[in-house]
Amino acid sequence: MKIYVTRKLADDLLQILKEKFEVEINVRDEAPSKEEIIEKVRDKDGIICLLTDKIDKDVIDAGKNLKVISNCAAGYDNVDVEYATKKKIMVTNTPGVLTEAVAELTIGMIIAIARRFIEADKLSREGRFKGWDLYFMLGTELNGKTLGIIGAGKIGSSVAKKAKCLGMNVIYYSRNKKEELEKIGIHFKPLDELLRISDFVSIHTPLTKETYHLIGERELNLMKKEAFLINTARGAVIDEKALIKALKEKRIKGAALDVYEKEPYIPEELRKLENVLLLPHIGSATWLTRYKMMKLAVENLIDALSGKIPRFLVNKEVLK
Ligand code: GLV
Repeated sequence: MKIYVTRKLADDLLQILKEKFEVEINVRDEAPSKEEIIEKVRDKDGIICLLTDKIDKDVIDAGKNLKVISNCAAGYDNVDVEYATKKKIMVTNTPGVLTEAVAELTIGMIIAIARRFIEADKLSREGRFKGWDLYFMLGTELNGKTLGIIGAGKIGSSVAKKAKCLGMNVIYYSRNKKEELEKIGIHFKPLDELLRISDFVSIHTPLTKETYHLIGERELNLMKKEAFLINTARGAVIDEKALIKALKEKRIKGAALDVYEKEPYIPEELRKLENVLLLPHIGSATWLTRYKMMKLAVENLIDALSGKIPRFLVNKEVLK
């Protein structure tokens, strides 16, 4: 069987693939174009792709023999899962292994925006540190503040628990109540109430039709003037234009973002703002986590092409 891998995976994992399949790899350190993916999948049985590879109807139609789309990411909004399901193609993802890396980054971003790390570092480098002073570089303390988690899956729940250890009151909004969180005093709140009472709001939902622009002008207006918004999930969960407006008008205090609506594009208006922390989608970017993601993606693909049910099959309907 033939497979296409859209980016160079770790050598040992590529070796495993090469022992089983005829493997074609994009060896460049950049995403292949859509045209290139279409060309490559024509004769392939499987593809391992990244979240930057758009696997839409055109790609799926081109892949006449495709049996599996193994996405090397937890999120799979880059794949037209509905269409793949229609074509009886399995779609798999790599959840679980990036939980702690993303949760740790989220906590780091909360502290960094609250205590003004970026401004402080810039000021020091520019020789503008004139000595300790009572009212100098004051920030916001986390202890005793309320963190509202939107989306209490694996990552959201991990952030919730870590924040509780930091002395925060943590609440969450999710499709279902989570017993595991309720038991430790982290309680469910309706979305609007969460937005009204939180000092920090952190987003951890996948991007779906339901969560697209979940946080727009109306929601931003519900937030406290002193509150911060953090997003390590997917950019389009927030209406970016509405956020920029709210930040400019100081309707909220700040935002810490790792994801954007049209990556890698970050609007200049956003880049010019002072009350933001902007990271380049590095939530899962540790060597250990990335290796585990690649390994899962390889295992999912091998299972799918050898008649087994992959561990992380997104569209279970294809089995019917
Ligand atoms: C990263 O953003 C992922 O979904 O794995």
